Order: sequence, then C-alpha cells, then structure tokens
Amino acid sequence: MANTILVGAQWGDEGKGKIIDFLTEDADIVVRSQGGNNAGHTVVLGETKYVLHLIPSGILRREKICVIGNGVVIDPVALVQELDGLAEKGMAVSDNLLISDCAHLVFPYHRLLDEQREILKGKNKIGTTKRGIGPAYGDKAARVGLRICDLMQPEVFAEKLALRVEENNQVLQALGAEPVHFEEIREAYLTAAERLRPFVANTVVYLHNAIQAGKNILFEGAQGTFLDLDHGTYPYVTSSNTTAGGACTGSGVPPHRMDRVFGVMKAYMTRVGEGPFPSESAEVSDLLHGMGREYGATTGRARRCGWFDAVATRYATMINGIDELAVTNLDGLDTVEILHICCGYLYQGKILPVPPTDVFQLEKCEPVYESMPGWKTSTENAQSFAELPAEAQNYLNRIAELTEARLSIVSVGPSRAQTFVL
Ligand code: GDP
Ligand code: IMO
Ligand code: MG
Repeated sequence: MANTILVGAQWGDEGKGKIIDFLTEDADIVVRSQGGNNAGHTVVLGETKYVLHLIPSGILRREKICVIGNGVVIDPVALVQELDGLAEKGMAVSDNLLISDCAHLVFPYHRLLDEQREILKGKNKIGTTKRGIGPAYGDKAARVGLRICDLMQPEVFAEKLALRVEENNQVLQALGAEPVHFEEIREAYLTAAERLRPFVANTVVYLHNAIQAGKNILFEGAQGTFLDLDHGTYPYVTSSNTTAGGACTGSGVPPHRMDRVFGVMKAYMTRVGEGPFPSESAEVSDLLHGMGREYGATTGRARRCGWFDAVATRYATMINGIDELAVTNLDGLDTVEILHICCGYLYQGKILPVPPTDVFQLEKCEPVYESMPGWKTSTENAQSFAELPAEAQNYLNRIAELTEARLSIVSVGPSRAQTFVL
C-alpha cells in the first residue's frame, strides 16, 4: 500500500478513525503527527466502541506498530488514562506503541489559559475543546515548551517546570484565574513518565529504518483541512497543520517518501465549535440529531451540520494533493428527499471558485446549490458500489467529480463490515 497520508477534508470528525482502522489491515505502522487529545477518533468493533484521542487508531490491530510523532502535543496524564482505558477493554498496549522523545507536553496551565482566553473572547470565542492545545503549541513556537525528553529526566524536568509554573501563574492570576501548584504537577507528571518511559524513542530514526526495510506507513491526520492553522478558517482553527504537509514535519519523514494522499469526507458537512460554515443547514442538523448522530466524540457537543460543500472539498484536494477519497456516513442521507450540493459561493454578486481566505468575507458568502433526488432507502447493508441505489451512486459520483479526486472507499455505517472499496 506504500506510504499513505490520510487527512480530513472538512472540519474534522469525517470518520478518519474508522477509515484508518480499515486501511490499517494493509499497513505495518500507523503514525499520528499533529494535534493532541483534542482529537476523538471513533472505531467500532463488534459491540465495542473505542474513542482514540492521542493513540493512533491502528492500535486496535495488535500486530501493527503505532507511533505518536514529534508534532503531537501530549498530556502525559491523559495518555496514561487512554492506555488504561484500552487495557480495560482488553486492548492492552505493550511493545506496539512508540512515543517521540521530541513531542511537546501539555500542562494544566495550558488548559486553564485555553479556558481563560475563550472567556475573554466572549462572543468571538473559538469554541475550543479546552484541552490546552493552542497554549501548548504557542509555547512550542515561543521556544519555552517542555518535551517528552525533559519528562524522562526528573531533575531537568522539575527545574524547567518550576520556571514555567512561575511565569504562567502570573498570567493566570492577572486573568483572574486560580494559580496551579508546581508540586502537584511535578508528581503527577513524573508518575505518568514512568508509565510512558518504555514507549519513548527517537521515532524519526525508527520510521527511517522502517522505510528502508520496505514497511508500509499510514499517517493518521487529526482534525481537518479547514481547522489547519495556516489554511483553515483562521482564527477559528486549531493550532497545528492538519493538512498533508503536517505529516512530514510532524513525523520527520521527508515529502518524497510519501506515495499517496487519502482525503476522508462525510457525505454532508459538520463542524463543531464556532466559525463560518457556508452550507450550514437547520434541516440537516435536525435530521442527523434526530437520529442521535453528530455529537462530538471528545466533548459531546452537538455538531453543526450542513449540505455537502464542494467548494471547500475541492480546495482541500488542492492543498493536500488528495489522490483518493473515502466518503463516510452516506447512510446519514438515506431519508432525504432532495439533496443539495454547494457548488459555489456567491459574494458581492460574484461566484467565487475557491473559499475566500478572510473569515469576514467567508461569513458573507451565500451557498449556491445544485440539487439531486435522494434515494430514500437504507444503504446500511450495501456491500459494494453496485448494490447502492442509482441515486446514491449518482450523488457519490457527483461529489467526487466536484471534489476533483477519485472515489475509492465508501462507508455506510460505523462498523468495519460497512465499508467497501471501489
Ligand atoms: P474522526 O474524528 O474523523 O475519526 O471522526 P469521529 O469519530 O469524531 O466521528 C465520526 C462518527 O461517525 C463516529 O461516531 C463514527 O463511528 C461514525 N461513522 C463513521 N463512518 C460512518 C458511517 O459510514 N456511517 C455511520 N452511521 N457512522 C459512521
Ligand atoms: P478530530 O481529529 C472536530 C475544533 C474545536 C474548535 C477548534 C479549536 O476528532 O477530527 P482546539 O481545542 O483544537 O484548540 O479547538 O478546533 N476541533 C475539532 N473539531 N474534530 C476534531 O478532531 C477537532 N479538534 C479540534 O471544536 O472549533
Ligand atoms: Mg473526531
């Protein structure tokens, strides 16, 4: 299968976890290269639902190796909880996980700052997951962050942490928040460190050697294209590069070792958190929420829903270099009479071929729709493209055509069996 980057082509929650689990069958190694435990990737195996936050979704196939790369920001206490949660469900992790010694750490003061900044923003808040992601990447860019390699050296760690706690407590107190306690953090983090120590490695060298040995690597994107720090709907974005390039910087694997890019998208759109969403539709939200669907895997928030936006997904193809598409949640549209696809943005009397980069302009864009008849029958049991109703085939072909990439996987339900390749 060669080295494959998988990215979300929308605003996150496209079903990446499910597709990663499916593609992992043909991979040797699965790598997370950005984001943190703001991600929530769902994989359903039989009766059991797993939600992965920091650990790659490949972990559910015991014989595969999973890597948390240098570009990920790690809350070590949350990571230990995730490992414990997996063990409780009979998926104990041992020698099948590696953690980069260069990955940055998320601290309680990052989470508190995240929260305080949201409060300060008031009605302009981003709607973050409050996992401290922005402040942690901020410290990394400001060159004051602590990394896994610091955590592995208790004395070095304590010395660096003391300075960071001192500075951050001044900021927190100025914002009217409670200070954090150095000793509590030191103890909790050093306890977690001993649990994580066996997994820590120079993952860049590991991946380089794996490539030399001809192994197949799957890079599991977190979040989605329009949450990318550079290319998303800034400032309503996350703080990492969620697009294909992030897989290189966040893992240390060079671009010319990547063979293909997979884009995952839902058959409709969702967004959780604030920010512009041109094809948002109360009709689609009501439909999906009425089915008990589209509630966030990390925060439980109701996701905003809308019609498929081909202007956005075509842009996602351009930025990521998407070769192949996986379309998920087709079954979510099973009852719709008339489907709408956003094919253009109307802005000041002109149709824009690509989304404007400025959010104020994007907010003012009116979606221009084309319509197609729905299939009005269940697709949940379809085992192949040929088994789908003709209207569903036409819809999939049309959204792939507008997105300008090849349709290669379709998903009609949360389980592994409800997936087929074209
Ligand atoms: P991720 O963050 O991209 O991995 O996506 P999430 O796990 O946050 O959200 C996707 C949701 O859709 C999860 O609840 C999945 O179990 C579910 N899902 C994925 N593909 C399908 C599908 O084809 N049909 C249905 N009904 N659910 C799906
Ligand atoms: P997965 O990997 C959907 C959104 C938040 C908020 C913005 C910034 O499961 O697709 P942050 O906490 O990162 O500073 O929040 O980004 N967000 C996601 N939305 N799926 C995700 O991850 C997300 N991770 C962050 O809701 O709008
Ligand atoms: Mg998710």
